Amino acid sequence: MIWTGLLLLAFIVYHILHFTMRVTPGLTLVNDASGHFDVFAMVASSFSGFSGAGLYAAAMAVLFLHLYHGIQSLFQTFGLANDNSLPTITTAGRVVALVLFLGFASIPLSILLGIIKG
Ligand code: HEM
Repeated sequence: MIWTGLLLLAFIVYHILHFTMRVTPGLTLVNDASGHFDVFAMVASSFSGFSGAGLYAAAMAVLFLHLYHGIQSLFQTFGLANDNSLPTITTAGRVVALVLFLGFASIPLSILLGIIKG
């Protein structure tokens, strides 16, 4: 948990520098036809290569590993699980971790694979 937690912290710092502060190298920053900043173009260009998409997909795998154990651990820590409910909470936590992983990872992967075109 400590290692996946530290990796997620590093990802979040990078993610804010990347998409919110937009200071990471190699970013494509353009405005759309109405003059508004084009977030889609930024995201699409960031995930058009294997390194950018792979980094985010790998970070989402770390998020999956963290939540796979972390959700049931959270319920135990706060005294919200007992011997009867723990198996259900554990399974539900793993399902939530998987759904989040598939949903988040689908963004870089569908751009990398050309399913979504920039
Ligand atoms: C593949 C996965 C992800 C993609 C493609 C993605 C994409 C984005 C984009 C495009 C922005 C900037 C939005 C804007 O400026 O209008 C953003 C902001 C942000 N993202 Fe993500 N994100 C992902 C995963 C995550 C995860 C897992 C977390 C948290 C653990 C997260 C937390 C944030 C935060 C805190 C912001 C700043 C919000 C703000 O600027 O108002 N993101 N993300």
